[in-house]
Amino acid sequence: METSAAKSIFVFVYVLIITLSTLQETNGVLNGETQKMISEANKNGPYLGLVIPNLSEMNPLLQSPSFTSSNLTIDFQGRRFRFGKIDEKDVVLVTTGLGMINAGITTQLLVSLFEVEGIVHYGIAGNANPSLNIGDVTILQYWSHTALWNWQRYGDGPEDELSLEENGDYTREIGYIKFANYATNVTECNLHDNFLNNVWYQPEEVFPIDGTPEERQHAFWVPVDSHYFELSKNLESLELEGCLNSTTCLSETPKVTRVLRGTSASIYLDNAAYRNFLYRKFNVSPVDMESAAVALICFQQRIPFITIRALSDLAGGGSAQSNEAATFISLAANNSVTVVVEFIKNLSANYIISSA
Ligand SMILES: *[C@@H]1O[C@H](CO)[C@@H](O)[C@H](O)[C@H]1NC(C)=O
Ligand SMILES: *[C@@H]1O[C@H](CO)[C@@H](O)[C@H](O)[C@H]1NC(C)=O
Ligand SMILES: *[C@@H]1O[C@H](CO)[C@@H](O)[C@H](O)[C@H]1NC(C)=O
Ligand SMILES: *[C@@H]1O[C@H](CO)[C@@H](O)[C@H](O)[C@H]1NC(C)=O
Ligand SMILES: *[C@@H]1O[C@H](CO)[C@@H](O)[C@H](O)[C@H]1NC(C)=O
Ligand SMILES: *[C@@H]1O[C@H](CO)[C@@H](O)[C@H](O)[C@H]1NC(C)=O
Repeated sequence: METSAAKSIFVFVYVLIITLSTLQETNGVLNGETQKMISEANKNGPYLGLVIPNLSEMNPLLQSPSFTSSNLTIDFQGRRFRFGKIDEKDVVLVTTGLGMINAGITTQLLVSLFEVEGIVHYGIAGNANPSLNIGDVTILQYWSHTALWNWQRYGDGPEDELSLEENGDYTREIGYIKFANYATNVTECNLHDNFLNNVWYQPEEVFPIDGTPEERQHAFWVPVDSHYFELSKNLESLELEGCLNSTTCLSETPKVTRVLRGTSASIYLDNAAYRNFLYRKFNVSPVDMESAAVALICFQQRIPFITIRALSDLAGGGSAQSNEAATFISLAANNSVTVVVEFIKNLSANYIISSA
């Protein structure tokens, strides 16, 4: 009995050691070669990090005459980090993939692995603001994530406390959407009601690096870096491309515009009623699927960042037949790159001036 028990303990420990040592090579702990490349890359830092949702938005930058590749790429955990220069600025580029989780993971990896002085996030977006047009490039002051919800039980209303509100998990401070307001073709208008009741918008729980670990704070509107935002004022005079080709042009000449607010969620928005609600409720212009995740990571890591988004469609607010995204996507992506390049040129110029 005793020897067999000892034997099985021995076997258990042996298997555990083998498992742990294989894990160390495969579970994402940096292997030697990658670690070496990262250390080498960091010797040439700090970098400005460019976080881009998708290849179709990165490609115009790779092809831009203002971008010089250093030919260094580092692949890590499914992401590819590309190095180069824009003007005099050393940059590292990475695409995130679609949605909040991808954007959050990629941004965190970028700032954890590399010496990054700031982040420029850019791409295309839907537009919820009726006074802006497709093709306009927006530079935002605040971002929020509008898909962390407390979905209120049927029967309760705005006067009723939410579940778990009392201990500070949830709040009624930000506001709600009432599904009954969106019923269609009801005949007795005053009577409509909806089991889906109300959804209350919630702030994110955040854990800033200079806070106490495990002690949550809350954030809903996350500001971009005030110096970056101030610098971007110059860009409003920039001229943008308004035509796809010799025959197809935007109806309005596109412009660069600084606006107050944008919002994100892992939701592709192609619905006029919700778009209009978001605009009226939150006064947001671009609606996208990544910016708030980048904002929330940078906010917690205390890294300066800015977001530049070109409006490529009306998030459901256009003609009833179709979403406009497919037609102007490439024009919008190109225009966002034009603005990003100019911003970075301004940033290097400004850096040289202030450090001289
Ligand atoms: C990038 O986004 C476009 C437009 O949504 C899509 O057609 C394309 O497949 C995406 N590319 C990648 C690599 O995800
Ligand atoms: C990168 O590679 C290209 C093509 O091989 C070459 O022309 C270019 O000079 C290289 N750039 C640098 C910075 O090494
Ligand atoms: C609602 O009414 C409009 C206008 O009369 C009609 O076109 C549409 O088909 C109706 N929708 C439904 C779901 O009945
Ligand atoms: C311009 O682009 C539009 C939309 O993609 C296309 O339908 C049209 O044929 C193009 N015209 C020319 C001259 O290439
Ligand atoms: C966008 O830029 C790319 C690369 O610079 C170019 O090939 C393409 O024609 C541009 N698209 C539009 C619609 O201007
Ligand atoms: C920033 O860019 C704008 C527009 O391209 C330009 O007019 C301005 O002089 C630039 N400012 C700096 C500090 O480089």
